[in-house]
Amino acid sequence: MTPFSLQQYLSLEQREHGLDPALARLIFGISDACAMIGSKVRSGALAGVLGLAGTENVQGEDQKKLDVISNDIFVEAVARTASVSGMVSEEVDHVIRVPDELPVGPYLICFDPLDGSSNIDINVSIGSIFSILPAPRITHDVSDADFLQPGRNILAAGYCIYGPQTQLVLTLGRSLVMFTRDPATGTFRLTREEVKVSESAKEFAINMSNQRFWEPAVQRYVSELLQGAEGPRAKNYNMRWIAAMVAEVHRILQRGGIFMYPRDSRNPDRPGKLRLMYEAAPMAKIMETAGGAATNGLQPILDIVPQGIHERVAVFLGAKEEVTRVTEYHKAK
Ligand code: F6P
Ligand code: MN
Repeated sequence: MTPFSLQQYLSLEQREHGLDPALARLIFGISDACAMIGSKVRSGALAGVLGLAGTENVQGEDQKKLDVISNDIFVEAVARTASVSGMVSEEVDHVIRVPDELPVGPYLICFDPLDGSSNIDINVSIGSIFSILPAPRITHDVSDADFLQPGRNILAAGYCIYGPQTQLVLTLGRSLVMFTRDPATGTFRLTREEVKVSESAKEFAINMSNQRFWEPAVQRYVSELLQGAEGPRAKNYNMRWIAAMVAEVHRILQRGGIFMYPRDSRNPDRPGKLRLMYEAAPMAKIMETAGGAATNGLQPILDIVPQGIHERVAVFLGAKEEVTRVTEYHKAK
């Protein structure tokens, strides 16, 4: 039998689990944005979308043309769902309001429209990440404060990976499911249900070039992994680094492992590289739903109350056993 389409899945969720139609509409709008971004990504140089846009984002990073295009696609597709009161994006310094001529709704959305930007021009996997929060007020006039909610409030989260296949990974809170886009029909179809991440791991992901800047807890944890079967962990570990968080998470969900982006001594005032609201919190929600864990080395990422929409955070996520261990090493210092 042909697997369920995303639309059929969302209808079933409405009928059987009381999913709010406005939330279903929002998720469908996101899937539409992802399909459009995926199409630009696939065309690459043929569509003239590669290279720099000539601008910087709020984090001071050079924006690629595709970063800007993806952001615009997301904003428009989401605004049209009439399901949100506002948006925040990794690529935009301020809160994005819904245009006055369009209705607002009871949700807020946070997104990284194109994650893994350094992979864009070299045709390696990239993705889009999103999370959906309740709107404290249904208004056209949202402010930063409305978004400063801990990840525990996330009602739905997911990502779309643009790799050899375009896949949408989604949680509405109860379980984690994966859809694969059928290139012939453009429909996202349910290809995996009840995704679970294994508790133990034999693979780790970290940018080793930063080793000399890591904190002692991370030095200790990684050095034990590197000692392999002869060391305290008594097994050999493999290492992978794709440099796109979406792709690392996608691998870990299917093959196990731990992903780390620790804080580092080059920027003592900066608590990590990754963004709490656009990257860490949605991925933490996904990991916890799949039975894994996610901390900043000290506490679950989902418990952190953001102080600002572009806040950064250290990230340790994936297999529970490994995340627990590296978190204990931080606490032991
Ligand atoms: O968005 C930030 C990001 O591109 C992540 O997707 C990825 O995990 C990380 O940065 C890669 O960092 P680095 O360039 O230090 O390897
Ligand atoms: Mn990113």
